[in-house]
Amino acid sequence: MISNVVRIALLGCGTVGASLLELLEKQAAQIAKRQALELEVAAIAVSDLAKQRPEVVPTELLSDNAAEVVSRDDIDVVVELMGGTNPTLDLVLSALKAGKPVVTANKELLARHGEQVFKAAAGTGVEVHFEAAVAGGIPLIRPLQVSLAGEKIHTIMGIVNGTTNFILTQMAEHAVSYEVALAEAQKLGYAERDPTADVEGHDAAAKAAILAAIASDSPVGLADVHCEGISHLRLDDLEAAQKLGFVVKLLAVIDLREGEMMIRVHPALLPAAHPLASVRDAFNAVFVEGEAVGELMFYGPGAGGSPTASAVLGDLIEAAREVRDGRSQGAGSTEVDSGEDFAPSSRRPSPRRPSQSRPAPQAAGRKLRILPIEELTTCYYLSVDVIDRPGVLSMVSGVFGRHKVSIRWMEQDGLGQDARLIFLTHLAVEKNMQAAVAELRTLEVVRQVNTLMKVMGGQ
Ligand SMILES: NC(=O)c1ccc[n+]([C@@H]2O[C@H](COP(=O)([O-])OP(=O)(O)OC[C@H]3O[C@@H](n4cnc5c(N)ncnc54)[C@H](OP(=O)(O)O)[C@@H]3O)[C@@H](O)[C@H]2O)c1
Repeated sequence: MISNVVRIALLGCGTVGASLLELLEKQAAQIAKRQALELEVAAIAVSDLAKQRPEVVPTELLSDNAAEVVSRDDIDVVVELMGGTNPTLDLVLSALKAGKPVVTANKELLARHGEQVFKAAAGTGVEVHFEAAVAGGIPLIRPLQVSLAGEKIHTIMGIVNGTTNFILTQMAEHAVSYEVALAEAQKLGYAERDPTADVEGHDAAAKAAILAAIASDSPVGLADVHCEGISHLRLDDLEAAQKLGFVVKLLAVIDLREGEMMIRVHPALLPAAHPLASVRDAFNAVFVEGEAVGELMFYGPGAGGSPTASAVLGDLIEAAREVRDGRSQGAGSTEVDSGEDFAPSSRRPSPRRPSQSRPAPQAAGRKLRILPIEELTTCYYLSVDVIDRPGVLSMVSGVFGRHKVSIRWMEQDGLGQDARLIFLTHLAVEKNMQAAVAELRTLEVVRQVNTLMKVMGGQ
């Protein structure tokens, strides 16, 4: 049987890198049979050579000089699983400039430097594959880029951070505080010791920026994403939402209109019957609405070594095919007549063909106008602690009225010092809602404005 050896440099061999090695070992025969490819890991860059590694890691391939690994002549494809942007950006750029396709799971790199990365790739006609950078094991990027290439996408709305979804599920289902739910997430390895990137919405914002760039064919940066996290949410809010028939989720939302879009990450109330409301624990799901196709939902494990490695392997096979078919330069795959096994023999570069790369997301079109969050029109949930005395309600509702916010539903919870008013509004403009909240804070009868959340889906 003729097979093509494609040589891979793995940058990073932590959770995802080690899982990829395991998967490559398990799937080697099937990949050879289906794809006529032998994916040979030729070098692995790590930061600490002395670290104890799982058995699957061939320690003789380890190097602590990632730049040297990337520049080796015999490397066809670079798989970046280091994370961060420094020195990752330089390593990825040098791989691309050398004509080597790159596979990465690094949302931070693409959200911060996507434009530069995709321009470098376009310069040498190679691809950057990044299926695992958003929603881990869920095939989402390729469906958006390929299957939905002709679709006019109106909305993408998703749960793209498993850690926060786990925390919110714990709070809602076990009636525990944010702090207790976070501690549980940390104990189970869902949350980092420093959970800021997850709980303040930064991780979801990076993913939203990537999805927005693909959906809009325009460059999107992190600064274009409005971002609110979940660390201020209280159990009371989730319980009040539940009583009203809602579930609280941290959502990434991209709304596209003619020539403009809004990209935002924030907690929101979703009707319990909404498909995203039933996504529990660390799972991710992304809801896409297109003009012709209607509503689609992608669901699955958004993180974890094995699911993420599955997405990386799919990308790696695609990158290896590019090298084999001469669509990208690499070092040129080696054809081997291997019989049952795959003993590498002569290296014979495949003939080069013009790049068949899809439009690179962040480098594709002109930048769309980014709508500021102040222009959002949606319904709101607001909880306010007040002094329990006659006339308070009319003072509070007067504030809403002055700012053109109309109340759809209101309930008083508790009495005396514990009096709390909970409101649901009709559609209102964010700018007006924020102005109403600011004025409420100045009222002598308002002890505290607690939580303001947007209400999504089926207003
Ligand atoms: N974990 C997930 O579930 C998941 C899901 C989706 C996407 N991702 C993304 O996948 C990437 C990898 O995540 P991970 O969880 O596997 O990370 P990880 O466990 O922390 O592994 C990082 C690896 O990179 C190596 N490394 C770090 N800095 C380096 C440097 N300067 N030079 C050479 N090697 C360096 C580390 O070396 P040592 O081993 O020597 O420390 C380690 O092997 C990240 O971009 C992450 O956002 C992860």
